Formats: sequence, structure tokens, C-alpha cells
Amino acid sequence: MAELSGIADPAALLAGLFAHVPVGFQIYTADGYSVLTNPKFREIFGGEPPPGYNALRDEQAAQLGVIDLIRRAFAGETVTIPAFWYDPRDVRHVHVAEGRRVAIEITAFPLRGRDGRVSHVAMVHKDVTADLLAQAERGALTARLEMMLDRMPIGCLLYDAEFRFAYWNKAAERIFGYRFEEVRGRHPFGLITPTAAQPRVEGIFRELAAGRREIDAIAENMTKDGRTILCEWHDMPLFGAENRFTGILAMCQDVTERHATEERLRQSEKMNAVGQLTGGVAHDFNNLLTVVIGNLDLAVDRVQPELQPAIEGALRAAERGAALVRQMLAFSRRQTLISETLDLNHVVAGMEQMLRRTLGEDVEIEMRLSSSLWVALADRAQVESALLNLAINARDAMAAGGKLTIETDNAHLDADYAAHNTEVSPGDYVALAVSDTGIGMTAEVLQHAFEPFFTTKEVGKGTGLGLSMIYGFAKQSQGHVKIYSEAGHGTTVRLYLPRKTTAEERAAAPARAERRSEGGSETILVVEDDADVRAFVSGQLRDLGYRVIEAADGPQVQRILESDEPIDLLFTDVVMPGGMTGRQLAETARTRRPALKAVFTSGYTENSIVHQGKLDRGVSFLAKPFRRQDLAAKVRETLDEPG
Ligand SMILES: Nc1ncnc2c1ncn2[C@@H]1O[C@H](COP(=O)(O)OP(=O)(O)OP(=O)(O)O)[C@@H](O)[C@H]1O
Ligand SMILES: [Mg+2]
Repeated sequence: MAELSGIADPAALLAGLFAHVPVGFQIYTADGYSVLTNPKFREIFGGEPPPGYNALRDEQAAQLGVIDLIRRAFAGETVTIPAFWYDPRDVRHVHVAEGRRVAIEITAFPLRGRDGRVSHVAMVHKDVTADLLAQAERGALTARLEMMLDRMPIGCLLYDAEFRFAYWNKAAERIFGYRFEEVRGRHPFGLITPTAAQPRVEGIFRELAAGRREIDAIAENMTKDGRTILCEWHDMPLFGAENRFTGILAMCQDVTERHATEERLRQSEKMNAVGQLTGGVAHDFNNLLTVVIGNLDLAVDRVQPELQPAIEGALRAAERGAALVRQMLAFSRRQTLISETLDLNHVVAGMEQMLRRTLGEDVEIEMRLSSSLWVALADRAQVESALLNLAINARDAMAAGGKLTIETDNAHLDADYAAHNTEVSPGDYVALAVSDTGIGMTAEVLQHAFEPFFTTKEVGKGTGLGLSMIYGFAKQSQGHVKIYSEAGHGTTVRLYLPRKTTAEERAAAPARAERRSEGGSETILVVEDDADVRAFVSGQLRDLGYRVIEAADGPQVQRILESDEPIDLLFTDVVMPGGMTGRQLAETARTRRPALKAVFTSGYTENSIVHQGKLDRGVSFLAKPFRRQDLAAKVRETLDEPG
């Protein structure tokens, strides 16, 4: 303290400090008597210890650790004890009438006499009441906040400045399947952000760190059990002192299911709107054409002979127009249907000759008609026209030849299927499936195929009404139509017509529906590129008790196979995007895991698939759409096969 040597009266400095420092100050003698206190001390404790007070004999001081503190200071140490709560009014023998409950932190240090021995102990009392109260309040607030965050139905995540997880709530655990402890300090890439989405997410992070206020995004994410889900994100940057970027607060919601439902609804609403429009136009046109044709009919025999060919030409054109209008009416479900009990096999067989002639020699036709087919209820002429339209579409898709498979079968569409296909009521149907080995449809074409006037054929070749007519006819008949197609591989169109049931059959039906499906607890790897279908299948398998891992494509499967995740069964589509077929996938899988069993599925019928050489006879195959029982039975049966 050389700087202080210029001060004439160090005692004045001490006295000043003593009077004005914001900490309580007290000095004890070696035998425990308090000999000096400063004003702040008296403020904290509401007064001075009474005359004769001896700390070493004070029970409360002993409890609070003060005696121990004094003893240690006498031994030469400087000691601080942690803050404690103290209320001078509770202390009878101190006799303090006023005062308040305070939190005090005490530091004691020794003072030595001229002989160098410790003669007194100085004690500094710091009032930390405000700090402790604030801390407690913060703690309570944090606890409340955490409780709210955990009860929130929205995923809430915090990233630190390096974009590592610093927090995530219970909803996030439910969405992604990871507990917070599993992701703490980890980066989202490879964890919940799939490779394809990384550049975009990186861009979002960068913008937020650079000061963008908030960013909303919809992105694909991965879950712990390998599912791909669609999430809605709302990200906000966090800034600390001096505007330093400290991380991101992200809210997220799993919108996979909602999105799929909306998409289906949009599609069906669009078709309804287009149907109404088409129907209105067609209806007016029909009236016009009736007048036109009627008048031309009247005129044709009465005009000069040289005009007759012209009138006949006009008549032919008008009649073609009328045929078009009929198809439009079919789509808009305004045609008159004559529903009759129908043996679909009979209808198909009756058209075989005509189809062979129409399709030519380059197209091989195979018929597979079910021998125990139910009776259908539908308009015969419309069924024939649908089959012809499908066959012609197939021929057009197989310009270089190929194979057409026509099948009939009984089908039961269950509640699960109905839930995933708008406007289908669950129940028994008679199905007609037409498969070809042609060029197939891209996702884009598939999405629009049922729309009237949608055609990819050159002008003059297609009107784009074939499938839309079948769609309208199916709907109007309380049936259903579904296309399954893969560009470059082929197409299957399935037309479901309602089954004609007798009263007894209807009464017997529920008993069969209640049949329990047998599940299991094995692990199944579900490979399917269509997120909707994948969620549906996985959900059903999980319901049956199985553990399910999901994968959307070959690379994902590869990764899962290379891990040491136990897998008992591979459930895969026969045709997958990206070149690899399900069969190749299974073969690759078996080089790593020789005992792995496989069930193949496809929207194509088994017959068309086996004969395209995409599958061997005898492998486990399940045709889409399948019922829960079919799925349960096929999976169980395959798992139980001797390896
Ligand atoms: N079997 C199939 N294989 C591949 N693509 C098909 C098949 N069937 C239909 N498509 C696609 O769907 C579109 C619509 O078919 P749709 O039958 O409604 O009309 P179209 O055949 O083009 O004309 P139209 O049947 O009125 O003469 C076709 O243009 C084609 O792109
Ligand atoms: Mg067509």
C-alpha cells in the first residue's frame, strides 16, 4: 500500500471506510465478545448485540456455523461461509425489536496484535437478500417456463451459436423420437435433417445468424426410428449482450398427416369442381347437338344430291361430338346408369375376341379370372367401355409390344383403406385389374390422369376422356378406381365395383370383419418411397405389435443394414425409384444378413409382376391395396417359415 504513505491520517481513512462501506462490519475479541460494529451492520441486524453478548455462547451462532468461523479465523485463516437466512427478531437474547429477514454471507479474517498473535477477528457481513430473492424468482420462473414448454403441443428447440441442440421439449421428443439427453450438444445434420435438406437448412441458419428476424419453412425431417416426416418450422434468432448471436429458438410441428389429408381433399375437391363444370358444359352441348343432329337428319334426304356428302359429313362430326359429350357426362356422374347384377368374368370373356383384334399381335393377352368371383352390381355397357378404354391405353403405352394382364378378383376394402382414399366406403367389391408392361406414368402424369382432357398423346390421338370417364363411372356406381404405375415399368388400373350382397351375406359380414389378426414383436424394415403408404403400412405393423424401422430409398436401407440394428424381415415395394428393384435390394441385403426374410409388395398384381420377370414365383408377395388381415397373415407366415 505504498500509494497510501502520503496520507497523514490513516485512521481517518479507516473510520471513513467503516462508516460508509455497504457491508456490515464487526470485530470480535479472542474470547468471543463483540467490540465494534459499523452503521451498515446495525442496519442489517436492526441494532447492536446487547452488552455482554458472547458469540461463542450463542446456540444459534453455533448452528449457523459462525462459531466455527470465528475459531478458524483465530487460527489464522480467512474464511467465507455460504449465504444463510437470518432474522434478528427470532433471536431472543439479542433483544432486537426491529429488523428484517436477510440473507447474509460472512467472511472472517484474523487481526494480529503487536506480538504477532491473533488478538481479534474481523467479520464482513454482506447482505445478499436481493440477489438470493432474484435467483429464487428466476428459478421459479424457469421451472414454470419449463413446465409450460413441456406441456406445449408444439416442438420447441433451442440451438446454441454453433447450431447444436441446447434444449428441446417433450413435444420435440415425441416428434423426433429422441430424448433430449440423446441430442444435447449435437448438430441436427444426419440426426433430424436428411442430407438432401442440409444446404437449405444451412442457408436458413446463416441468414438468422446474420440478423434475419424470423424464417418459416416446411421441411422433411428424419425420426429416430427412420421415418421421414414433414415439419413446419418457425425459427427466430437469439441475440445476447452487444448484439452477439447466441443461437436460435425453433418451433416445429409434424404436419405429415395433415398435409396428406389436405392433399387428398384438394384433389377430390378439384375433381368435383371440374366435374361440375364439365357436366354443365356437356349438358348444354348435348341439347345443342340434339338440335343440330335432328335438323341435319331432317335435311339430309331433302337437299340437292351434290350437298348430301357435306351434310353427311356434318352429321358424322356431330355424332362424334355427341359421343364425347357422353364421356364428359360420365365423368361428371350425370349419365344414366343401368345397374344390373353382373358376372364380371362373363363380361371380360365376352370381350376377349374383340380385345385381341383391337390390340394386335404385338400385345400378348393373359386372362386370370377368379373362379369364385362374387356378383357385382354395375352398368354392363359402362364396364365394357371401361375395359376397352383401359386396354387401348395399355396398347398405346406398349408401342413396341408387351403384355396385357386382365384379372378379376374379390376384394375387401377395409376402414383403413377407406381412411386413406377419400370417398371410398369400406366393404366388399369385385375388382377388375388391367395391367400392362408399357411406359408407365410419371408422378406428374399420375396426378392428373383422371382429369378430363388431360392427355399426353399427340393432338388428334387422345381426348383425355378415357380415364376420367372411368373415374366418374366408378364414383357414380359407388365403386372405386385406383391407378398404380411406375414410369418405365408399367401400369395397373384397378376398378372396384360394388358387390351385390344378399341379406344373409350382409348379416354374416361383421363376424368375418372381427377376426383377429395375429401380430408379433419382431423388427420389420419397411421400404417404400411413397410417404403416405409408408406411414400407413408402418402404422398397421406397429398396431400389430411389431417394431418398425422405415426407409424411403436404397441408400437409407443400405445405412440401416450396415448398422447392427437387429432386423427380422424386409418389407419392400417391388419397384423402387432410383433404379434398384426390391429384388435387388433383398439380394444385397442378404449378402450382409443371409437369414433376412422378405415380403414384396406392389400395386401391380402378382400375375403381372411375376410375368414381367420382376419377381420369382413362390416369393412372399402381397398385392396393394391389402387388408390389415392380409398384411398380418403374410408377415406372420413369412416370419414363421423355416429359414
Ligand atoms: N396404361 C397406361 N400407361 C401409361 N400411361 C397411361 C396409361 N393409361 C393412361 N395413361 C396416361 O394418362 C393419360 C390420360 O389417359 P386417358 O385415357 O384419360 O386419356 P387418353 O388415353 O390420352 O385419351 P382418350 O382415352 O380420351 O382417347 C394418357 O394420355 C397417358 O398419358
Ligand atoms: Mg385413353
